[in-house]
Amino acid sequence: MVGRMTGFGHDRGEFSCDGVAVAEVARVTGTPVHVYSAALIDERYNALDRSFASWPHRLHYAIKANATLAIVRRMRGLGARADANSGGEIEVALRAGFGPADIVFTGVGKTAAELERAVGLKLAAINAESPGEVDRIAALAAAAGVRARVAVRINPDVEAGSHPHISTGHRATKFGMSLAEGAAMIRDMARRPSLHVVGLHVHIGSQITRPEPLVRAAEAVATLARELTAEGIALEHLDIGGGLGIAYEPGQTVVSVEDYANAVLPVIRRTGLAVVLEPGRWIVGPAGVIVTTVVDLKRQPDGGWFVVVDAGMTDLLRPALYGAFHGIEAVAPRTGEPIRADVVGPVCETSDTLGRDRALPPVEVGDLVVVRDTGAYGAVMASNYNRRPTAAEVIVEAGAWAVVRRRQTIDDMLQWDV
Ligand SMILES: Cc1ncc(COP(=O)(O)O)c(C=O)c1O
Repeated sequence: MVGRMTGFGHDRGEFSCDGVAVAEVARVTGTPVHVYSAALIDERYNALDRSFASWPHRLHYAIKANATLAIVRRMRGLGARADANSGGEIEVALRAGFGPADIVFTGVGKTAAELERAVGLKLAAINAESPGEVDRIAALAAAAGVRARVAVRINPDVEAGSHPHISTGHRATKFGMSLAEGAAMIRDMARRPSLHVVGLHVHIGSQITRPEPLVRAAEAVATLARELTAEGIALEHLDIGGGLGIAYEPGQTVVSVEDYANAVLPVIRRTGLAVVLEPGRWIVGPAGVIVTTVVDLKRQPDGGWFVVVDAGMTDLLRPALYGAFHGIEAVAPRTGEPIRADVVGPVCETSDTLGRDRALPPVEVGDLVVVRDTGAYGAVMASNYNRRPTAAEVIVEAGAWAVVRRRQTIDDMLQWDV
């Protein structure tokens, strides 16, 4: 314990999380290790919740952002509900203590087994993505003698303005149904005895930093909701998805949750419907870092350095997958001339670069370095490529810390090989 600071930063010269020196954690767990701040998770969840306080709202935490059980349980403790994107995430939600009525289920390509489980559980909503899927849900519900609660995912043809790989709301993507087709589909669904149409769903992408695309998407589903209500199709909610971005780069401006709520709530109010949100990144992204050790230093031909660390694309895929930026800092900065460096992992891919052309204090082999804002789409996207065991995960809470997911061993990793 080195101080009382909330979140991450240098506290009396040492990088710490909620007052706990991350070097202390790394000494015990080894590296790479994911370190999460409980205080920051709570603070961010509560800020988002507060900003929608003036209207009936439900925050369904997007489990895909960070599916570690302790994090999902924490969300439940804060009053969140759950957004699952696969059968596996439904089971995570249940094990974290959520009831089926707390869970919405989205996803392109839900399998027959996943749909059967979702229908049998009577989830809060299955967000259908195609006419074929609606037929399968209706048949499963009829066979089970239940009315499945369903919504339709609308593709509003809105450019999210984020990276193309995480933009999901324009017409050329695989997600959802166009407004016209979705409307026809709902009218048909409303006539089927085994289906109960409860809402409309839209999610146009992730890491969206301006409110305009999110508002345009909300307007599209709100307009359709009003038409359907006028026709006598009684919806319960509008699910406007997740997607709120965070500031990964110094000086990057992103819409605040207050401004987002102020922009989107007038649109929702006109429908009279409760709003469902599926936030992931905004809550947990800034609440995690990866602590990693420098394992080698190498000169580049142009005079810069390669700082080789023991975390790589198998621990944090975002830079390799999207060219994403993550801040990188020394845990205990040395004094002296700063260096320019590419911070790279040990994986046998040139894309295994965590940060390019960064200014760092001088570093030596054995030094600890942190990669920031890795709480979302970090550990969940880990792989065993190059037969690298997945890293340990730790939560810091009230000046103490605990391992919430232990580091994989070689035996763990090979246990399914026959
Ligand atoms: C359907 C759906 N809902 C919610 C989310 C969470 O998005 P974010 O983490 O950007 O809030 C995603 C992720 O892209 C998603 O696909």
